[in-house]
Amino acid sequence: MYSVRKKYYLCVITIIFFVSCTTQKKYEVLSFFFDGVPNPQTADIDLVADSLSVKDSTTLLAKSNGVAKPGFQIHSPYGKKECVSCHDQKSIGKTIDSQPQLCYKCHTDYKESSRVVHGPVGGGYCSNCHDPHKSQLEKLLKQPAEQLCLHCHDSTTIYTSKFHINSDKNTCIECHNPHGGENRFMPQHGSCYNCHNNYAKIYDFLHGPVAGEYCSACHSAHIENTPNLLLYNDNQICLNCHDKKVIYASEYHKNKESDCITCHNPHGGKNRFFTK
Ligand code: HEC
Ligand code: HEC
Ligand code: HEC
Ligand code: HEC
Ligand code: HEC
Ligand code: HEC
Ligand code: HEC
Ligand code: HEC
Ligand code: HEC
Repeated sequence: MYSVRKKYYLCVITIIFFVSCTTQKKYEVLSFFFDGVPNPQTADIDLVADSLSVKDSTTLLAKSNGVAKPGFQIHSPYGKKECVSCHDQKSIGKTIDSQPQLCYKCHTDYKESSRVVHGPVGGGYCSNCHDPHKSQLEKLLKQPAEQLCLHCHDSTTIYTSKFHINSDKNTCIECHNPHGGENRFMPQHGSCYNCHNNYAKIYDFLHGPVAGEYCSACHSAHIENTPNLLLYNDNQICLNCHDKKVIYASEYHKNKESDCITCHNPHGGKNRFFTK
């Protein structure tokens, strides 16, 4: 009686094993016991040949089930196997258009949304920074932002400022928009206020350039190691925009020697002249 039961179980197990013997099941069974067994479903889709046709490569892709390694971000058209939206039907190594036009078929042209466009964006070097297929990093980046930026920009000038650089983080894009912006420095709107007082919240009246977040009219975020990172340490900082003749014509400005900021707060204040 007992041994018959044992045989029965053995039989069932064997049947289950054979039924389940698809590649995927084998993986599940094996990976239950062993670490590091490659999952065929999630095998990375790496197609290296330059001259594969779209048809060939989609077949290859279908075999791999189109699922990339865990932890990869997939560019939507790549994941949907819409290879032809970017590639030549006959040769997968070629693209149907050059960048940035290729990307602007689906993405908004940065020239429309920014007054100033970043050099490599305007020049169509999108894939210098982004992988058009997949990446382990957010936003399909090829490297962490900071490393990307320092490929082309000289770290010796960028890192001179003692305050603003923390190389462990993607600090560049905290302050800069990588694609373009309002002025040539492409500031991220409101970024200074991530760490500093928001003057708009403290003062009733805001100084013009502060209201416009044109902080770099007076400060340098990188280069200067002067007190308060000021571009100039004298009244010139104000006289770059305010006409000397007009200022010194007023009664209350007759002493040309005094510092503007002894009487005025440079950012804003309780009255419209931000006098202290
Ligand atoms: C969003 C546009 C886009 C889509 C969609 C796309 N590719 Fe690409 N692919 C590119 C670009 C751009 C390059 C060139 C990469 C470079 O210059 O860094 C490229 C390069 C390649 C290469 C050359 C080798 C390499 O990896 O650099 C192959 C092969 C390839 N793609 C296959 C495919 C297949 C297969 C699909 C569909 C599953 C696909 N691509 C979908 C844009 C795309
Ligand atoms: C066929 C249409 C199409 C083309 C061509 C295309 N993209 Fe995309 N891209 C998309 C879609 C759809 C998304 C997902 C949009 C979303 O989530 O808002 C996307 C998202 C992205 C993202 C954001 C990914 C994320 O994780 O948020 C980046 C970066 C990107 N594309 C770069 C590019 C670059 C670079 C090119 C040119 C080489 C390009 N795209 C060409 C359709 C396209
Ligand atoms: C100098 C490097 C660089 C270049 C060149 C570049 N990008 Fe980006 N892109 C980035 C970075 C960095 C981010 C992530 C921004 C963030 O996380 O705030 C990004 C984000 C994106 C996103 C996600 C949405 C967003 O704006 O955050 C899209 C879409 C995108 N880029 C498309 C493009 C296209 C299209 C091109 C070419 C016309 C391009 N990029 C060129 C660095 C670059
Ligand atoms: C592929 C090379 C390349 C990469 C990568 C790159 N840049 Fe640039 N960047 C340029 C070029 C070219 C210019 C235009 C220089 C000029 O006009 O003098 C520029 C200009 C700038 C400017 C304006 C400088 C000025 O004096 O007008 C800023 C700010 C900037 N980049 C920030 C960044 C940031 C932040 C990153 C990373 C997200 C980055 N760059 C990545 C090539 C690059
Ligand atoms: C008109 C020139 C000017 C503009 C524009 C300006 N600042 Fe200042 N800032 C100064 C001066 C001058 C000082 C030194 C004040 C002092 O010594 O009393 C200063 C000091 C500072 C300080 C250190 C002292 C403090 O008040 O906390 C910070 C932080 C600062 N500014 C941030 C900013 C930010 C952020 C912006 C843009 C939103 C900005 N500044 C715009 C002129 C300016
Ligand atoms: C705290 C904000 C902040 C951070 C972080 C930051 N920048 Fe800037 N950057 C600025 C501002 C503001 C300017 C405008 C001119 C100035 O203030 O010196 C500027 C100017 C620049 C310029 C043009 C002038 C120059 O110094 O050559 C480049 C290029 C640049 N930044 C690249 C970078 C790169 C690359 C990183 C990351 C390693 C970075 N920035 C990080 C705020 C920042
Ligand atoms: C990631 C956080 C961060 C961001 C974003 C940031 N700062 Fe700072 N900043 C600091 C730190 C930290 C200091 C060091 C002094 C302190 O603790 O106030 C500093 C110092 C300064 C000083 C000098 C203050 C002094 O006491 O000498 C000025 C001016 C300044 N920042 C302006 C700016 C401007 C303008 C921006 C936007 C372009 C900006 N910061 C963005 C973190 C930041
Ligand atoms: C980048 C240009 C710029 C710089 C630099 C600058 N200002 Fe101004 N300032 C303006 C603008 C723009 C206004 C707004 C003018 C208006 O509303 O009529 C303004 C307004 C003022 C006002 C109020 C005037 C009024 O009639 O309402 C005072 C006071 C003032 N600034 C003082 C200073 C002082 C002090 C400095 C130096 C710390 C300085 N400014 C640096 C551009 C600048
Ligand atoms: C001794 C204190 C004092 C000094 C120093 C001073 N101001 Fe003034 N400023 C004032 C007073 C007071 C007013 C007028 C306020 C009123 O009318 O209620 C004023 C008004 C202004 C105005 C608006 C009206 C006008 O005359 O245009 C501007 C702009 C201005 N100052 C800029 C400056 C600049 C730039 C400097 C440095 C070169 C400076 N001030 C130095 C006290 C001073």
